[in-house]
Amino acid sequence: MGLLRSNKRTTITGKNLNNKTVNTINIKPKNTKKIINRYHFLIKCRAYIFKLLQIDLIKTDDELEINEFVQSYLQKRLNKSKGNNDIKLDYENELLQLRKKYNFNDKSKDQELLLILKFITTEIIDNGGLQRYQLASIMGQQSNRGGDSSKKLMEWILELNDNVVAAPELKQNHFIGMNTLEIGCLRIDNILSKNKYRKFINNIERIDLNSNHPEIAKQDFLLRDLPSNETEKFNLISCSLVVNFVPDEYKRGEMLIRLKQFCLPNGLVFLVLPLSCVENSRFMTSELLVNEIMGKGLNFKLLKEHKSNKIVYYLFQNVEGTEINKKYLKQHFNKRNHIDSSSKKNFKMNNFSISF
Ligand SMILES: C[S@@+](CC[C@H](N)C(=O)[O-])C[C@H]1O[C@@H](n2cnc3c(N)ncnc32)[C@H](O)[C@@H]1O
Repeated sequence: MGLLRSNKRTTITGKNLNNKTVNTINIKPKNTKKIINRYHFLIKCRAYIFKLLQIDLIKTDDELEINEFVQSYLQKRLNKSKGNNDIKLDYENELLQLRKKYNFNDKSKDQELLLILKFITTEIIDNGGLQRYQLASIMGQQSNRGGDSSKKLMEWILELNDNVVAAPELKQNHFIGMNTLEIGCLRIDNILSKNKYRKFINNIERIDLNSNHPEIAKQDFLLRDLPSNETEKFNLISCSLVVNFVPDEYKRGEMLIRLKQFCLPNGLVFLVLPLSCVENSRFMTSELLVNEIMGKGLNFKLLKEHKSNKIVYYLFQNVEGTEINKKYLKQHFNKRNHIDSSSKKNFKMNNFSISF
């Protein structure tokens, strides 16, 4: 499998990785969740530090490039400073307290931030980074959630085509021969790709930040050129467990806006999230996501919804002739102001949010 190949060269500490390729990775199924959670945690912390240090890496989607940039950035900034050896940090604790201890108004802690950034980057590189995360995700598909999410998508597509006679407004044409974009694609042999569904899924363009197969293009959806005409849009876009991967709440908003921009009128968007993003967040609920953001903000209509123990699946249809209501989104979904967090403070909550 392509995932098992690695081009990594050196770690941040200069350790040669050429003989420590990812093909030595052997992930025990019980560790997949740990690896996935840790990776999410680290890239969220890193994104916050980038903001504090005003590092803007919007022009690159490449993990290797990001790591190399950070390495040389750290070399320049850490070398300049004196007394770094005197700073003793309990890194795990600093990461847990990051948002509390470090903020935009306090420039006096930049050296600590640089050291924490070094700690994060070293761990990401030494642990095999995105490749190892993807491998854990593939294994997690099997062990944690009973198969890949496109199983649910195809079940729904079949149902919609059965129902179309009863509900002609669904426009049958859009549910067969669909030109499809799969964002965050880990494998080309998922259920969506099965030959028996060719009638429905005509052609799949697969993209991911890190491609592990020649048929998956290495591409950041957030940086993809916007469609210049309808032929560059899709009848179906699958975005399964990708939005929650994006570490910045405004970039998550940008991703949803792009789903609208890349979706044909009456086209479908399959959106999948960990259930905790909408059931256990201080700032997001399923109602806000479906009715306010996807509904009033982006003019998508919810066709299907399913909640399993850990995952929530949505299928939306792009309402023909509608636009993005940016003003509404900016007004109601800015800076995590959209829910009364005090009402939920008794629970162990997370901070998942989407902003515009
Ligand atoms: C948890 S995996 C999900 C994979 C698969 N879709 C699934 O449902 O199991 C998330 C994937 O999304 C990819 N990803 C995250 N942000 C992305 C972006 N901006 N553009 C393209 N792919 C992205 C990551 O590289 C990762 O492989």
